[in-house]
Amino acid sequence: MKHKLLQHCPLLPLIDSRLAEQFDVHHLWTESDQEGFLARHGSEFVALATIATIGIDEALMAALPALRVISSLGVGLDRIDLDAAARRGIAVGYTPDVLNDCAADTAFALLLDVARRVSEGDRFVRRGAWSGRPFPLSTRVSGKRIGLVGMGRIGRVIARRAEGFDMQVRYHSRRPADVPHEHMASLQALAKWADFLVVATGGGPETRHLINMRVLDALGPHGYLINIARGTVVDEVALVDALATGRIAGAGLDVFENEPHVPQALRVLDNVVLLPHVGSATRETREAMGALVLENLESFFSTGRPKAEALG
Ligand code: DGY
Repeated sequence: MKHKLLQHCPLLPLIDSRLAEQFDVHHLWTESDQEGFLARHGSEFVALATIATIGIDEALMAALPALRVISSLGVGLDRIDLDAAARRGIAVGYTPDVLNDCAADTAFALLLDVARRVSEGDRFVRRGAWSGRPFPLSTRVSGKRIGLVGMGRIGRVIARRAEGFDMQVRYHSRRPADVPHEHMASLQALAKWADFLVVATGGGPETRHLINMRVLDALGPHGYLINIARGTVVDEVALVDALATGRIAGAGLDVFENEPHVPQALRVLDNVVLLPHVGSATRETREAMGALVLENLESFFSTGRPKAEALG
């Protein structure tokens, strides 16, 4: 008999159909009255599949009293209540590592774009402005200083990419990591040193508004902020102010505080590049992430533990 799995949201068509082959799947998002559905059927499900940007809160876990395993597409754990899962003995699988390259590539795409004015130049050519006036000079990337906020799996790959651009790398994290780059205990000092401050740390209450006005002022009028982590890590009101008043040079953002809402004040600025949270969203990487969502479930039902397990 197939295990009963509640799917919180669509993942990828390929993965959705493989889930449906292997499990007795119900799609929660198709229910108009989700609360009513959960009250009637919540106790039937032993597994839940979700995505990192939606996760699962304590209330949904409480509505699933037989839940034994959560399998989440993504590396972020800020929307999964790991404490509540641990209290209930629910195992949590997630998809680290397989997305490191694409997340790091996205950081570099944003960094190069905002510094070299790629999107801005594209808009300039398309609107026919080239014949009217010269395009403003941009900022050199090669050989510059990159400060990484977070030196985890993705931070390390960004650091490797940066070496290819002959950049000097330093980083800030709670503890020094086993990497050949200088650790800076003060985030403000790192921001002051860096030409590019790249946020690659986890979300959640511990890192909320880590990048505040003081850090942005330390980065200064020639510095750029890149965020591929979580919108909550940056105080967005302070960021908009710093960008609009030229207290930092520009920003490349894949994530926002209140996605998919992006403040109008950001959307009108030319010195920002904005992406719709697509750090890992290539076909290859999303397929690898989806495959790991399935492997985590298979592993849980055969060994009692997901292959890649998130521990609170
Ligand atoms: C992640 O892996 O957490 C990404 O933000 C996409 O969900």
